[in-house]
Amino acid sequence: MHPFFVVGNLKMNLLTRAECDKYVSLLKREATGLSFPNVRGIVCPPAIHLAYMTRLPEVLKLGAQNMSWERSGAYTGEISPVMLKDAGVEYVILGHSERRGYFGETDEMVKDKITAALKHNLIPIVCIGETKEERSQDQTTDIIERQVRIAFQGLSPMQVESMILAYEPRWAIGTDVTPTTAEIMQVRVFLRKLLTELYDARLAEKVNMIYGGSVKSTFLASVAWDAEMDGVLVGRESLFPHELLKMMQLFQEHANT
Ligand code: PGA
Repeated sequence: MHPFFVVGNLKMNLLTRAECDKYVSLLKREATGLSFPNVRGIVCPPAIHLAYMTRLPEVLKLGAQNMSWERSGAYTGEISPVMLKDAGVEYVILGHSERRGYFGETDEMVKDKITAALKHNLIPIVCIGETKEERSQDQTTDIIERQVRIAFQGLSPMQVESMILAYEPRWAIGTDVTPTTAEIMQVRVFLRKLLTELYDARLAEKVNMIYGGSVKSTFLASVAWDAEMDGVLVGRESLFPHELLKMMQLFQEHANT
């Protein structure tokens, strides 16, 4: 059975060390006595807080929100995959729509970052998804296909199997609007078909696919298990430790049924 994933993307929040400490202590308090044998919880704080965040409760792993495709050198402002590893990071979000939209990340850059992450034993959480305009022009599958074909270029089946693919329609991020279960399912089916073409049906079944965009604990069923997704990528709600753990609990309850 696939594990379920609950990924909290804290984005550029928790502005001070004090806020960060408070967040971690709330997580610790809320997580006391809980166990999630079928759920992987991952918290992705801003890079500057990664080193403090190693004191997370055991049920949560550490993820970064971005990284460089280079190992070291004259790349002002960038963060090396080696630095992430050294800070205790296990996962890294790559190609988030805010990176693509505000900071000009191209499919090729995302591909290079995936290759670098895998090389340094970091698990990439690769974000794909269409804009509102692309959706209204009926281009959803074309966009997703292009993003996946480029992102997965040259990757072995084993590498693809180890990654997490996050479908995050850009119009659903930060908006309180989510696609219907049927719309998410359609993307899931399309991705399976595409991965069967690129690899094979067995691998297409095994790839971890999660949904992201305005996720709340109250509608996990409709965006996750009813849509056959293996988890969620959560922005705003992950700023509430209680909500993040509640989502993990709901996935665990679902796995127990
Ligand atoms: P949101 O963000 O949950 O605040 O919509 C999701 C994301 O950007 O991953």
